[in-house]
Amino acid sequence: MYNTLLTEAQNGTLIITVNRPDKLNALNKDVIEELGKVLEEVYNNEDIKAAIITGAGEKAFVAGADISEFISLDAAAGEDVARKGQLKVFDKIENSPKPIIAAVNGFALGGGCELAMSCHFRIASENAKFGQPEVNLGLIPGYGGTQRLTQLVGKGKAMELMMTGDMVGADEARALGLVNHVFPLTDLMGKTKEIAAKIQLKAPIAVSKIIKCVNDAAKGEKGGFVNEIKAFGECFTTQDMVEGTTAFMEKRKPIFKGK
Ligand code: COA
Repeated sequence: MYNTLLTEAQNGTLIITVNRPDKLNALNKDVIEELGKVLEEVYNNEDIKAAIITGAGEKAFVAGADISEFISLDAAAGEDVARKGQLKVFDKIENSPKPIIAAVNGFALGGGCELAMSCHFRIASENAKFGQPEVNLGLIPGYGGTQRLTQLVGKGKAMELMMTGDMVGADEARALGLVNHVFPLTDLMGKTKEIAAKIQLKAPIAVSKIIKCVNDAAKGEKGGFVNEIKAFGECFTTQDMVEGTTAFMEKRKPIFKGK
């Protein structure tokens, strides 16, 4: 179905694997196009409750945008690459109403770090390495890196990482708040699937409202508190809220339907 991605649905979680291991899963035009398509599937297919994005092989999550496609670009074409990528893929991941988790299994550099950062949160293997090395190419991040890295690790560290192009390992990435957990590579997918499965047992409408409200905070949205008040109120119109509160009173586990 896809040329550059592998997709597999497991218990409601769609596992999306960027599959160009001989190029360390670099994001060429085809990958961006296909990630855009698979995200439509995540948004629209009711059987998909969550997604995990990872990279093929044991070396790289994604080693960046495909540098070979950059050589002949002019300013307008460069802008176009960044704009289309952000709109079709990176913003779409961030704003997905269903949880999308990055399972970072090796190099996450440039567009790869940006892809991981656009996910709702990140789990890494011990061999993962993160960085924004665009400055080495005379470039800057173009898929949201200047914004999301700053949100995640703070201004000073983001400045240093982007100006030096240095990589950080998994443990440092965890200390910085860039990743939530670090596991041996052999456990990475299993542990990430466990977290996705746990979230799937929660109330889906509440989960999507959490995503929206937290994104408001990350974007410095002025109306974030007001939006939260409204979203909180809307939860009271859901069957899931009735089910959740009733199940608590009846001392049983709730069964949420996303209604
Ligand atoms: N774009 C295009 N091709 C890439 C790539 C990228 N971002 N990253 C890796 N590749 C390709 C290499 O060109 C090489 O292809 P080849 O075998 O046809 O020559 C293959 O993937 C393997 O990479 P290689 O550099 O040989 O592996 P390595 O273990 O020596 O180094 C990295 C690994 C990640 C340190 C190195 O590949 C690298 O620096 N990549 C670019 C990272 C980057 O600058 N990303 C930001 C892009 S804006």
